Amino acid sequence: MLEITPLDCTLGARVTGMPPGLQLSGAEWQEIEDAFHRHAALVFPALHLSDDEHIAFAEHFGAIEFLRDGQKVVRISNLRPDGTVMNSKEKRYQTLRGNEGWHTDSSYMPLAAKASALAAEIVPERGGETELADMRNAWDTLDDETREQIEGLSAYHSLYASQAKAGFVFKTGDGYGYHTRGAPLRPLVKVHPMTGRRSLFIGRHAFRIPGMEDGDAQALLDRLLEHACSPPRVYTHRWQPGDLMIWDNRCVLHRAGAYDYTTPRVMRHVRVAGDPEHDLVSTGRDERADGFAPTAAAPG
Ligand code: OGA
Ligand code: MN
Repeated sequence: MLEITPLDCTLGARVTGMPPGLQLSGAEWQEIEDAFHRHAALVFPALHLSDDEHIAFAEHFGAIEFLRDGQKVVRISNLRPDGTVMNSKEKRYQTLRGNEGWHTDSSYMPLAAKASALAAEIVPERGGETELADMRNAWDTLDDETREQIEGLSAYHSLYASQAKAGFVFKTGDGYGYHTRGAPLRPLVKVHPMTGRRSLFIGRHAFRIPGMEDGDAQALLDRLLEHACSPPRVYTHRWQPGDLMIWDNRCVLHRAGAYDYTTPRVMRHVRVAGDPEHDLVSTGRDERADGFAPTAAAPG
């Protein structure tokens, strides 16, 4: 019997009673999908899925987004393929450290992600939690003046911009997406296609707002983020190996907790692609050959 229990937070529910091999009826999958839309994130403790089951699970939520090396499933991990830990000069390590900033997945790509399903394989003794923040409640609790100010505003999103803000300068090819030119431009307020609820669509990849000075734009984005990612809107998941969590990237921000990066942490990630009708924005071609510079000319 499926049991769905809301978390002590404005988002999220814990789901237990999943049968082995994901043998659920259509009605039970519907129950899970309804809970996903109501709660925006679901935690499945000790599910212990295989890679293929993890992909099959995610496919119930939509088509899979292809990730690094064209894979449907990737390890988010500080281990190299040979099992040794990465050093701080490696781009993959720098991306992990970047993940410690609040973000929504693939917002720097033309098609932003719908959902992400993350599972734990190896967890550190301390730290390495994943936190989620409810952007629906963040919008609901904004003051009227700010709502009026931001309704109608959009921000560019770039992984290169967010990595630069975190102190890591990436060059073309070091990450996904676009530099300054051609970065996707996304409204700050997103209407959920299934629930109709408004939410703040921000996070570390957002970096510039047309019509505003860059400094003012960043100050506004920072202020919104601080409001958005505060209690009671934040859930902190302390992982046990085998746990799986899925969140709705259209209305949830997430971030990784720091840990002792000389010890292993291995997470498995499958990403559900956005819906072109609601999550696709056009971009230009990236014409900047080199690393992101925060003072560069406005995107074309
Ligand atoms: C991700 C991510 C956070 C974590 O997989 O997209 O941001 O805790 N992960 O590893
Ligand atoms: Mn992420």
